[in-house]
Amino acid sequence: MAVTKYPLIIFTIAYLTRTAFTFPSSLQEDPAVTKLRTYLRFRSAHPDPDSGYEQAIPWLEQYAEELGLEFNFLDLDEPNRFAVWMTWRGSDPSLKSVLLNSHMDVVAAEPDKWEYHPFEAYKDAEGNIFGRGASDMKSATIAELEAIRKLKTSGFQPLRTIHLTVMPDEELGGVRGMIPFVKTDEFKNLNVGINIDEGFPIDSENMVHITYAEKSIWQFNITARGAAGHASTLPEYTAGQRLQVVIDKLLAYRESELQKLQNPDVTVDQLTSLNLVRLGGGIGDNTIPNEVWASFDMRIWLLPNWNFTDVENMILNITEEARLGSTPNEVTLNFILKSMEAGRTTPDDSNVWWTVVQDSCREMNITCPPNVLSAATDGRYVRSMDIPVFGICPFPNTPNTAHQDNEFINEANFLKGIERYATLIQKLAVLPGNLYP
Ligand SMILES: *[C@@H]1O[C@H](CO)[C@@H](O)[C@H](O)[C@H]1NC(C)=O
Ligand SMILES: *[C@@H]1O[C@H](CO)[C@@H](O)[C@H](O)[C@H]1NC(C)=O
Ligand SMILES: *[C@@H]1O[C@H](CO)[C@@H](O)[C@H](O)[C@H]1NC(C)=O
Ligand SMILES: *[C@@H]1O[C@H](CO)[C@@H](O)[C@H](O)[C@H]1NC(C)=O
Ligand SMILES: [Zn+2]
Repeated sequence: MAVTKYPLIIFTIAYLTRTAFTFPSSLQEDPAVTKLRTYLRFRSAHPDPDSGYEQAIPWLEQYAEELGLEFNFLDLDEPNRFAVWMTWRGSDPSLKSVLLNSHMDVVAAEPDKWEYHPFEAYKDAEGNIFGRGASDMKSATIAELEAIRKLKTSGFQPLRTIHLTVMPDEELGGVRGMIPFVKTDEFKNLNVGINIDEGFPIDSENMVHITYAEKSIWQFNITARGAAGHASTLPEYTAGQRLQVVIDKLLAYRESELQKLQNPDVTVDQLTSLNLVRLGGGIGDNTIPNEVWASFDMRIWLLPNWNFTDVENMILNITEEARLGSTPNEVTLNFILKSMEAGRTTPDDSNVWWTVVQDSCREMNITCPPNVLSAATDGRYVRSMDIPVFGICPFPNTPNTAHQDNEFINEANFLKGIERYATLIQKLAVLPGNLYP
């Protein structure tokens, strides 16, 4: 989206007007909140995030300088591919480091659907700050940096080195950032022992989910063909009847997953989701089409007795069964996306990093159950390097508004999240011992 100077001036005026006349108290707002609001105004939004990156990168560099952190920018050779990270050296740099990973890009926002402009970072009387990235996940980057400021101010010295990566294109799958970055010597030299990555917020005062794996996303399109003709006729097998078999059987599978919730020990994150997402075909209201199609999105959670071969066979069998009395290839399957699982980080006491996370939660009086993320994040690429990754979003009482219109975070909850990050980072950074020689 091209940004002309003119609307920018309007925003600036609107922003100043509101700040000056509606909420004079915001002049005394916590400097951490001011940092967040400044960061939210950089338009690092897809499909055109570059102008936002150009503003964000030097700003982060200055932020690092202010906090006394080393700042690194790595150009990943091809145009617009890069990694940014900051470093706080530990007193024993030979130990595996703590990596805090976040991303500077945000998904697109349509201003006319928002109550306040998505790049204005407007704060209402309740302290709710509206902006694209308020939840996913500019708030996390700033809260981590402010937690580091707190720790530094308190005189804390980490034993392990702490790195903070801020990656470019998590929302598009990491092609410009994490995918190439994990393959570099620079990444290897970060010597990462544990990665704290993106989690998801929940509207709870005293619970935070710790994600230890991600579901695998499969998207596929099934096209059915059959006898075409005048809509007044009744040919034996039409494309519609064949597609009906596909839809019925896949949605029956969906229903069987849903039924598992009857068991109180089963939670939604342990289910495979499947949804019909698009339908198409047909050329007119009085014509039986010779082709119709449906596409599906599936988030797979493998079970001990259910692997990817089984999933694929299920889909292939359904495709086969829909070939009602016809020659082959009347029903065809095409994968749009087929991601395989990038491993699981052990969420129990056999993993020392898990015990540290749980210790921090106890200290903060919150419960931190393990959970599986239904979306894909950059954490999967780090996990695929055999590095443990936990996804954590520490902000209390925060409904998940990621990717939604009017995405927001409340400033009081944002500030509490800083305290929680400080507790967690401190505990991770003083864990002694060479854990993974
Ligand atoms: C599904 O396949 C049909 C042709 O077989 C194509 O016309 C349609 O665009 C595809 N839909 C998606 C979502 O890929
Ligand atoms: C998947 O499980 C089946 C048995 O259900 C087994 O025969 C097959 O080898 C497994 N495939 C993989 C890739 O593990
Ligand atoms: C697919 O069909 C084959 C042959 O009919 C059957 O043996 C197999 O169990 C089916 N697999 C699934 C996952 O339904
Ligand atoms: C946790 O609870 C204990 C005992 O109720 C209390 O002393 C402590 O201040 C609480 N800590 C936090 C971070 O709320
Ligand atoms: Zn995110």
